[in-house]
Amino acid sequence: MGSIGENIIYFEEVDSTNDVAKRLAPKSKEGTVIIAETQTKGRGRGRREWISPPGGVWMSVILKPKIDLSCAPVFTLIFGLGVCKVIRSFGLNAKIKWPNDVIIKGRKIAGVLADLDLYEEVNFVIVGVGIDANVDLEDFPKEFRGNVTSLKRELGQEIEKQSLIQNIFQEMNRVYDRFKSGSLSSLLQEWKELSSIIGKTVEVHTETETIKGAAIDIDKNGALIIKLEDGSHKKIIAGEVNGVRDSSGLYR
Ligand code: BTN
Repeated sequence: MGSIGENIIYFEEVDSTNDVAKRLAPKSKEGTVIIAETQTKGRGRGRREWISPPGGVWMSVILKPKIDLSCAPVFTLIFGLGVCKVIRSFGLNAKIKWPNDVIIKGRKIAGVLADLDLYEEVNFVIVGVGIDANVDLEDFPKEFRGNVTSLKRELGQEIEKQSLIQNIFQEMNRVYDRFKSGSLSSLLQEWKELSSIIGKTVEVHTETETIKGAAIDIDKNGALIIKLEDGSHKKIIAGEVNGVRDSSGLYR
């Protein structure tokens, strides 16, 4: 089994565990985890703020894989899959919204953010994981509350955070070992089975356009494949799936 979680560096409060991990990465062993009770400058995808109140799991893993840059986006996908599986192990119907939001009935419960050191070749990848474990939804600003949930909220009671963290390490090690042994296609197949959007009609907002069509697949690099109305296929590398429609309308 892999080394994720063998070394843990714990903080009460940091700016962002991803930023701490980036600073420590050059001198840290692969698998080192930075974990904090709260973050003052938590970051999400698309340079968004990631609100990190007490009760959540805010952590970042330092990895030093020998991968080509084109592989980097699948990192977030496969670790999102790992987090989703752990949340499902509580008996909850968690799904993954491309690329790596873990959602329950349309509300986000966890997210994954990978930061790469891109100097010539990939020297390290920081995989940040945020899970609203025992977070009280009242600790989020009002405008967020309708879009988020927590394990505490879904289960009606607090969970044992230490064992959640151990399960996350175990699942991340499983996923990472499978990735390193060449089983990416089976990981992506599992990802598709837990996807909330594959097979659905979606709207994807990229930096430059909004694309409507059927989400039919993801490719080996983690790009989303959309079938447009005219039957052609469009590959999307980065974007936000904001509306998911089925025959009864919008149901995010
Ligand atoms: C997303 O936008 O869905 C990704 C959210 C990732 C949040 C985690 S919390 C721990 C780590 N530190 C950060 O600043 N962000 C990630």
